[in-house]
Amino acid sequence: MTILDIIEKKKNKQELTKEEIMFFINGFTNGTVPDYQMSALLMAILLNGMTDRETFEMTDAMLHSGDVVDMSALGGIVVDKHSTGGIGDSTTLALAPILACCGVYVAKMSGRGLGFTGGTIDKLESIPGFDTALSEDEFFQVVKRVGCAVIGQTANLAPADKKIYALRDVTGTVNSIPLICASIMSKKLASGSDTILLDVKYGSGAFMPDPESALELATKMVAIGTLAGKRIGALITDMQQPLSDHVGNSLEIIGIVDVLKGKKNRLYYEIREVALRLLTLTGKYNLVTANEAFQEAIDSGSALNKFAEMVQAQHGDPSYILNPDKFAIGTRDVVTAKTDGYVTAMVAADIGRAVTHLGGGRMTKSDTIDFSVGVIMHVAIGSSVKRGDVLCEVFHNGGRGLSEAKALIENAITIGCDKPAEHKIAYAYVSKDGVELY
Ligand code: URA
Repeated sequence: MTILDIIEKKKNKQELTKEEIMFFINGFTNGTVPDYQMSALLMAILLNGMTDRETFEMTDAMLHSGDVVDMSALGGIVVDKHSTGGIGDSTTLALAPILACCGVYVAKMSGRGLGFTGGTIDKLESIPGFDTALSEDEFFQVVKRVGCAVIGQTANLAPADKKIYALRDVTGTVNSIPLICASIMSKKLASGSDTILLDVKYGSGAFMPDPESALELATKMVAIGTLAGKRIGALITDMQQPLSDHVGNSLEIIGIVDVLKGKKNRLYYEIREVALRLLTLTGKYNLVTANEAFQEAIDSGSALNKFAEMVQAQHGDPSYILNPDKFAIGTRDVVTAKTDGYVTAMVAADIGRAVTHLGGGRMTKSDTIDFSVGVIMHVAIGSSVKRGDVLCEVFHNGGRGLSEAKALIENAITIGCDKPAEHKIAYAYVSKDGVELY
């Protein structure tokens, strides 16, 4: 078998065998298959697709390219959630403490932001002292003691995905349902949780442009997770506008503290939906008891205290959670409405790009992040505005990237005459039992 035969086969729309898939995944991971041949194969997969069986075999080969974490010694239910990425998506930061208060373990490995999307690990590192690189043993001890911990992916978790993802990022091969599916599911299945909720986003700030393609991806991922013996479900959620009104690293921590104190905004409702689905998936709750436990965790202040406890356990300064005014935020500027009307649409990715221009995200992997910058949105799709109203506040550092950021935001927000239809937070829920539309 040679890599050239495998490329030819996929180019000719033929189905690859398990052995051929293992050959190219193992070969690329250990360096015997070079980047240029892997790029050609990835492009053939993007153009000609993969069957469900091929996608499963690819996920399995990537999952076994590194360690498979064993969390069984925790002796309880271990839950995980994964978002396909977006703007102002800080759900993990609230979900981890809320779910821990509901009596399940959250042992979460998260990623960094790249390009226009933010990353949980960067947001957490904006809390002074917070350590996202705990040893495996310390990670396990914090989860056991506190109930939740969030770290970056360990080096040997699905290393095949790390290499393949980096190559896809620079070869125009990100947007492929089988490749996204294998990338996400290999990491989820390797990270040791027994109950998984996938948050598959669609819209201008997501990889999937519309709910239909998000549903196709979600259905495949749920099928693979179910085959692997996990309790798994997927929500299809809207990413046509930033999820949190706070976008930027320290700003998103401030936004999450607001939610943990009970502020009811889009982010709150999305967090509640994800939490309720995850808790019912565990089999310990139904939707009514899950909602009661969720409300109790917020109303009693326990979720906020749990977040501070997790921060302290991961060597961060918990006083920033209890008093978020301590965060150093950049200098304020504003973007205002040029006309009267309704906000009819947003290009969410451009709001993410604006934050990157301000220094709050990376253009390349080695860029350092300015935690103090970002935006606070004052409008959402459907808001009524008058000329001169503030659409969003922009926080910058010494004017860096300010004019580019303001131009991007102005273009990203469309104001029209007619009030648009309501944008629901969730479009559908997919489980092994089928699809439930909202
Ligand atoms: N997130 C991932 O982890 N992988 C993808 O391919 C896309 C989103």
